[in-house]
Amino acid sequence: MSALAFIPDEVVKLFQARYGGTPAVYRAPGRVNLIGEHTDYNLGYVCPIALEMACYTLIAPATHGQIRIYSRELEQEFSLPVADLPNAQPRHDWTDYIIGVALELHKLGFTINACDVLVASDVPSGSGLSSSAALEISSALAFLGGRDLDKTELAQLGRRAEGQFVGMPCGIMDQYASVFGEQGFALQIDCRSLTHELVRLPIWCSIIAVNSMVKHELGTLAYRERVKECAAAVEAIQAIDENVQSLRDVSLSFFERIQDSIPMLPRKRARHIISDTQRVVDLAAAAEKNDRREMGRLFVASHRSMQYDYEISCNEIDFLVDTAIKLPGVYGSRMTGGGFGGCTVNLVEPGAFEEFKAKLTAAYEKRHRLTPVFYSCYPADGAGRLQ
Ligand code: GLA
Repeated sequence: MSALAFIPDEVVKLFQARYGGTPAVYRAPGRVNLIGEHTDYNLGYVCPIALEMACYTLIAPATHGQIRIYSRELEQEFSLPVADLPNAQPRHDWTDYIIGVALELHKLGFTINACDVLVASDVPSGSGLSSSAALEISSALAFLGGRDLDKTELAQLGRRAEGQFVGMPCGIMDQYASVFGEQGFALQIDCRSLTHELVRLPIWCSIIAVNSMVKHELGTLAYRERVKECAAAVEAIQAIDENVQSLRDVSLSFFERIQDSIPMLPRKRARHIISDTQRVVDLAAAAEKNDRREMGRLFVASHRSMQYDYEISCNEIDFLVDTAIKLPGVYGSRMTGGGFGGCTVNLVEPGAFEEFKAKLTAAYEKRHRLTPVFYSCYPADGAGRLQ
């Protein structure tokens, strides 16, 4: 585990006070995506880092015949008889993420026994930092309890639970980053081959996530629409080249040549996906060369592409980006995650952080009457057992 990961004593005490016994403790991190947004379900590249902020799932065997789960954040408990797991139905709340992965494990042939489970997370929910994947992956590991499951399959299982039980047709990025994160590195994930390369980040660059504290409800609906619009773009391109299976198969130069034959809306969506996939590759190259200006330029280009072509930004986020990039020591800023609120991610010189925070806070409070929250993000290790 990361040297920075700590075993949250108070969470263990909370478990013991509630259920007794000595729980096993599993941790799975949230993530912040540096570049490559919505490219994952188009089988392109993404470039997230796993965070120190994580979800902890504590588990101990029980004799009451139930899967009994307590959420520290929500102060709610839920029980499901183990025998009912195969027929469990979504409740459209936090329990779906946990029961969803238990069900997926059951489908793979893993027996799920009666247990007491406690979940505690310091990944802010609704912030675009992937609290859901952290919950899914830490819970899946807890139910597995040391039984072997290939890491890529673990990530895919989390994604399936979210798509099928929670009902959010997400890509693989969040679960993959939560499983495979490595301290000190970003991951350049190839979402088609499900492999990754490590990207070492220059030491001058602090990665700061800024939480806009807004999450517009449009999220899931718009996500589904974007998935469909990308499929429509693929269909239009197939009329020209039948070998194209996804937007990953379309190079930027080919797209530029044929774009006029794609209807306007899918054309804009495709332009974002194809150019942002290229920006992932370019960001890794710029990081390698320690080229901070190029990294910053790519961040801003990615944001503009989300703002105008993919149309998933919002006023609050645009304001945070536009304000940040005028501040000293800030190389780039862009929205991160699914869209319509959540966080921006910023490349900031370490010495410039205090001024960045003070000025951005003052401007945002004045314009939007909200206080943004700042997180310094250090690339941390992926999921595992702590004790
Ligand atoms: C959400 C999804 C991911 C990805 C991002 C956008 O976080 O869960 O799969 O599509 O949005 O990049």
